Amino acid sequence: MTDRLLRGRLLTFHAEPQGPEDTDAYSYIEDGALLVAEGRIGAAGTYADIAAQAPGLPVTDHRPHLMMAGFIDPHIHFPQVQVIASWGAQLLDWLNTYTFPEETRFADPDHAARMAALFLDQLTAHGTTTAVAYASVHRASAEALLSEAERRDMRIIAGKVMMDRNAPEGLRDTAQAGYDDSKALIDRWHGRGRAHYAITPRFAITSTPEQLEMAGSLVADHPGCYLQTHLSENHDEIAYTASLYPDAPDYLGVYERYGLLSPKALMGHCLHLSPREIAVMQETGARPVFCPTSNLFLGSGLFDDAGLREQGLVNAIATDVGGGTSYSMLQTLNEGYKVLQLQGQKLHPLRAFHWITRGNAAALGLEDRIGTLEAGSEADIVVLDARATPAMALRMERAETLSEELFILQIMGDDRAVAQTYVAGAPQKSGTVSTT
Ligand code: GUN
Ligand code: ZN
Repeated sequence: MTDRLLRGRLLTFHAEPQGPEDTDAYSYIEDGALLVAEGRIGAAGTYADIAAQAPGLPVTDHRPHLMMAGFIDPHIHFPQVQVIASWGAQLLDWLNTYTFPEETRFADPDHAARMAALFLDQLTAHGTTTAVAYASVHRASAEALLSEAERRDMRIIAGKVMMDRNAPEGLRDTAQAGYDDSKALIDRWHGRGRAHYAITPRFAITSTPEQLEMAGSLVADHPGCYLQTHLSENHDEIAYTASLYPDAPDYLGVYERYGLLSPKALMGHCLHLSPREIAVMQETGARPVFCPTSNLFLGSGLFDDAGLREQGLVNAIATDVGGGTSYSMLQTLNEGYKVLQLQGQKLHPLRAFHWITRGNAAALGLEDRIGTLEAGSEADIVVLDARATPAMALRMERAETLSEELFILQIMGDDRAVAQTYVAGAPQKSGTVSTT
């Protein structure tokens, strides 16, 4: 990839903003530039300074748009690209009626390969440059996704779902096959290029105790890998889990018993946790992942962001497509704002944009590589246009501050507001911006 300068308004976070006035938490440069070299950010600063450091480099001029770190989506299901917007059910019926039948199609490597490319196209079109993704139970589906991400030099965390019961024929592995396939994928992919492996027992309902035990040995043998699963999303799910694991103190107790919990454990949803479960999340460092569009769509419940943060938990925020209804992290913030409003909590735009960039990176322990525009970071960048639609342009006429502009993007933005996305320095959208 050719080295170049990107010119535009530049926003990057150094820490989580503690409130609307916390200007120390971020840098904002009106006429800013990024020096992009070999897939990384070589330097960031004012255009005048950076251009002087690198005379003669081609310049892509994104003014008046806003450049920030690419968005990070820490919970999404790749085999659900054709499940999104399936009508009328809550979690368990939705899984049985729509999701499981669709996921059986990913046994076919050609289908998986086609969907992987379309899935990653959707992510980058929406400004997402890193995803933590569930594949289907089929090893070939994880292969397809990881290969396609490698082809694009895109940072990805992914894993083959482990599920050996309570699912249809064609969508079950066995405890041993789930272990063997996961192990083979870890050996082949974890740490290769920009890929990480996530050990992925789908949730307690679809795994036997033997399978969770084997997931626990994978975690113990591969402490550098992530672990992703679902926790406490829906009341019927919680009751069913209790009936399958009668000796566990609660839902989280199942995962705790098999040694799945650590700061690398990403626990989707966490809507109805007991005080004991919250305390165990805090002690182990496991991360709750808030999925607002999914929680509203499936009628699952309201995520208590402030309550969990007060107990010292590090919350991530994600789309959960196809229970989630949009690939857009902007739309995810929009719905997240409303979920918090219903509970008297606030999601200020500075904290919101920190969350989907450096905040999610920090929840993944990757903030030294992604989530900021600091020199040395990987050149995963999104360019945002707060006037992308006529309605946004009209509203922007009355916006006077950076926070107001960000809030318009947070509430009204989607893929139309993403003027460009760079993955490891390479532009993903064919654009009309001027390059000199
Ligand atoms: N719990 C187990 N599997 C799933 C899934 O695919 N989506 C959601 N939202 N919850 C789950
Ligand atoms: Zn999910």
